[in-house]
Amino acid sequence: MCGIIGILKKENSELSDNLVQSLIDLEYRGYDSAGIAIVHNSSIKIEKCLGAPSQYMDLDRFKKNIGEEKILTTVGIGHNRWATHGKPSISNAHPHLDCGGDIAVVHNGTILNYESLKENLKKQGHNFKSDTDTEVVPHLIEENMKKGLSLEDAIVESASLLEGSFGLAIIHKDYPKTLFVLKNGSPISIGISNEMFVVASSTNAILRYTDRYLVLEDGEMAKLDAENMSHNIFKYKQPARSRLYKAEQVIEGILLEDLSKGDFDTFMQKEIFEQPATTRSTILGRTNTEEGLAVLGGLIDYKEKLRNIDNLYIVGCGTAYNAGMLGKELIENLTPINVSAQIASEFRYRKQNFSPDNSVFLSISQSGETADTLESLKEMKRKGFTTLGIVNVVGSAIAHESDAGIYTRAGTEIGVASTKAFTAQAITLYLFSLSLARVHGMSESSGISFIKELESIPDIMKKVLENHQEIERIAEVFRDIEKIQFLGRGIHMPIAYEGALKFKELTYMEAGSYPLGELKHGPMAVIDDMSLSVVILPKDDLFSIGSISIEQIKSKSGRLLVITDEEGAKSPVMRLADEIIVIPKLNNPVMYPLIEVLPLQLFAYYFAKQLGNNIDKPRNLAKSVTVQ
Ligand code: M6R
Repeated sequence: MCGIIGILKKENSELSDNLVQSLIDLEYRGYDSAGIAIVHNSSIKIEKCLGAPSQYMDLDRFKKNIGEEKILTTVGIGHNRWATHGKPSISNAHPHLDCGGDIAVVHNGTILNYESLKENLKKQGHNFKSDTDTEVVPHLIEENMKKGLSLEDAIVESASLLEGSFGLAIIHKDYPKTLFVLKNGSPISIGISNEMFVVASSTNAILRYTDRYLVLEDGEMAKLDAENMSHNIFKYKQPARSRLYKAEQVIEGILLEDLSKGDFDTFMQKEIFEQPATTRSTILGRTNTEEGLAVLGGLIDYKEKLRNIDNLYIVGCGTAYNAGMLGKELIENLTPINVSAQIASEFRYRKQNFSPDNSVFLSISQSGETADTLESLKEMKRKGFTTLGIVNVVGSAIAHESDAGIYTRAGTEIGVASTKAFTAQAITLYLFSLSLARVHGMSESSGISFIKELESIPDIMKKVLENHQEIERIAEVFRDIEKIQFLGRGIHMPIAYEGALKFKELTYMEAGSYPLGELKHGPMAVIDDMSLSVVILPKDDLFSIGSISIEQIKSKSGRLLVITDEEGAKSPVMRLADEIIVIPKLNNPVMYPLIEVLPLQLFAYYFAKQLGNNIDKPRNLAKSVTVQ
């Protein structure tokens, strides 16, 4: 949610090109507007655009306005916006300036007390040009400098007045060799090479330049100096500002090719088709087939705790929550443990009845940054719970805060609509469920066959994806529908929810999702010949009861798409379906969710494609939601 970048180089270069490239690398974090600012001939020069920088940032115009073919500079900052305060517009796009146009600031996060700060600053004569919370920052710094403070002191003084969350990068027209960075609640990393510093909301935007980086913690500020390529990091609230020495880290788990679409039309398409490979990678080295065990190194210190739990909370948002619901179905199916799967934004504010003595808290997150999930985790830590995380982004806040966890190893996911991250979360939950089941009564032979089936999933996924043209055809068949609902029972219910979430994110159409048996208790009212019901119904022990719902949908003239397996497809009830997507038959029905989600991802993808929607960047959304 908003992406910031800052680049400081030892030597002059065409930095604006780098800034825009980095904004493109960070575009998944926000894309309603963007901007860059550089220090050039002792003044701040700004270029902004409405919409995604990859499409709308016009560097030629920037160069023309400045009157130079090559704009050489040593420092600049940039920002991709996901609007929270004030609508997407050029004046609300970052960077924001002080009255004198000397100081430029980019910000990721929310400044909670900006209204009172703004009121005071206005009384002191400051002139505001945007509706954003961010704009108070350059004006505060300006005000403090007017009082005689140095730039560094003015930033420190201003930061101490801010409440809320922020990642900030700040430049000043008179300091072309200095870049200031602050962190409180929003992620910031500092990439380091011999020639440059690159400050970014995510290491994704650093990797292009270097794989060495430092992580700022909350309450820290860095002064980066290109004169001698030095950095001074300190706690900005501590008067002594004692220098903190941090170990450099190496970026892991991201490849530069993850940041490009390769031969695919969109990142989402690429990520859908990567799932056989990412699934393999999630499982790799985490099974002991001879003994039917899951080998989860990250949880090794919590083996005893997990052996003795009676209850488990699973918490996440959006797709991660849907994976959590699947985890609940699985774990309750395979073990005697009670599982409460909850949406993080609700969980935080609800009374929770499990006790830390015999329960564990598990959060799930692709980005590892989602504010609601992170705050739930912190709250449960305060309450004394053991906190585990299933996280994709290595070293992210949730990974860092959790007592222990399992990385999902899906690789970088750029498409805002989650696909490979979901299947990686699901696979991780299957491994986690197996580890719990084996200490709660599952036999060795059942463990062995569970692993064998799990390890066969990547090849089966490949087969399912080979059917993509048929799914594209089916999306065309239903092009004229006015309403849609996704239905599934038991272990298929979370997949119905995930199918609906994908569909609404991409097509902007409202999509219902219900347990199949709930249909007759209300959702049936929407069924008519312009409605499509997508029913997930492979041949398992709920097939017969589910077939009744198919009859009910058809009796109300509803249109019907069924996802079933080869066995289910032979059933006479399938003659009622307008279209059927057939998936391979599995020996262990508990594994169906892992493959039945793929046609739903493709269906949403092709449906949105024919509508001409922006697949990778659906309107109003952002990849990581770091505001509450
Ligand atoms: O990064 P997280 O997994 O914590 O994100 C949670 C949700 O914001 C995310 O899954 C969102 O629902 C996706 N856009 C779904 O496709």
